[in-house]
Amino acid sequence: MKVIDFKKYPMPRMRHHVNPTLYLSFKSHHKSPFWYPPLIEHIKWDDYFANGKQPTVLDIGCGRGGLLIDYSLIHPEINILGMELRKQAVEWIHSVLAGEELTNVATLWYSVVNGLSFIEDDSIDTIFYFFPDPWPKLRHHKRRLFSQEFLEELYRVMRHDATLFLMTDVEEVDLYQQEIMKEYGKFTFEYCENDEDWDLPKTDQEKFSLRKGIPYKRMIVRKR
Ligand SMILES: C[S@@+](CC[C@H](N)C(=O)[O-])C[C@H]1O[C@@H](n2cnc3c(N)ncnc32)[C@H](O)[C@@H]1O
Repeated sequence: MKVIDFKKYPMPRMRHHVNPTLYLSFKSHHKSPFWYPPLIEHIKWDDYFANGKQPTVLDIGCGRGGLLIDYSLIHPEINILGMELRKQAVEWIHSVLAGEELTNVATLWYSVVNGLSFIEDDSIDTIFYFFPDPWPKLRHHKRRLFSQEFLEELYRVMRHDATLFLMTDVEEVDLYQQEIMKEYGKFTFEYCENDEDWDLPKTDQEKFSLRKGIPYKRMIVRKR
């Protein structure tokens, strides 16, 4: 597998969170703030991927793209798309993808709370949703992406045998997500303790948790 010398791509200092309005849907704003990521309804995939095909793997909230880039190197035949709110992170990932001429991976500056209408029904094999921002205060829960509407969109784009992978180091988030999935009812889910069933490169946040000895939960979610 190709090894990237990341020293060639100095990473800017990034704030942990962005303007809180970005976590809310575009239509919930009375006026469209100029700093809001563009709404995307349709995509011409040949602008993003060398083979012109739509992605079959999504990384939602890809952050600095550690998993995204490693996954694309391990699976050069698969198109993977990251989506991320923090513009600086997306710009940095773009600089790496351009510098390394990686053409099976792309990232969008996009707030996923606005849905995935640019992804076709029954087209996705794998979705990653890793270490979502916990927003522990009750008044901030509305900034959490995981909701009935979000699950409905995931269900729509997933193929019948697709897998949704979840990972979090916040117990409250884990329980919250389980509650939402139970209410939604169209998914089965189980914890994954076994590395063989979780054959994925590590995310940046996962590496951080491992370095600091912070425990985290992994969950495998499938359509019923
Ligand atoms: C804690 S980071 C984890 C990043 C990466 N998944 C990892 O495991 O290293 C969570 C990321 O989700 C992004 N995010 C949160 N809400 C989002 C939304 N509505 N749309 C897109 N990205 C979002 C945040 O900006 C942040 O970069």
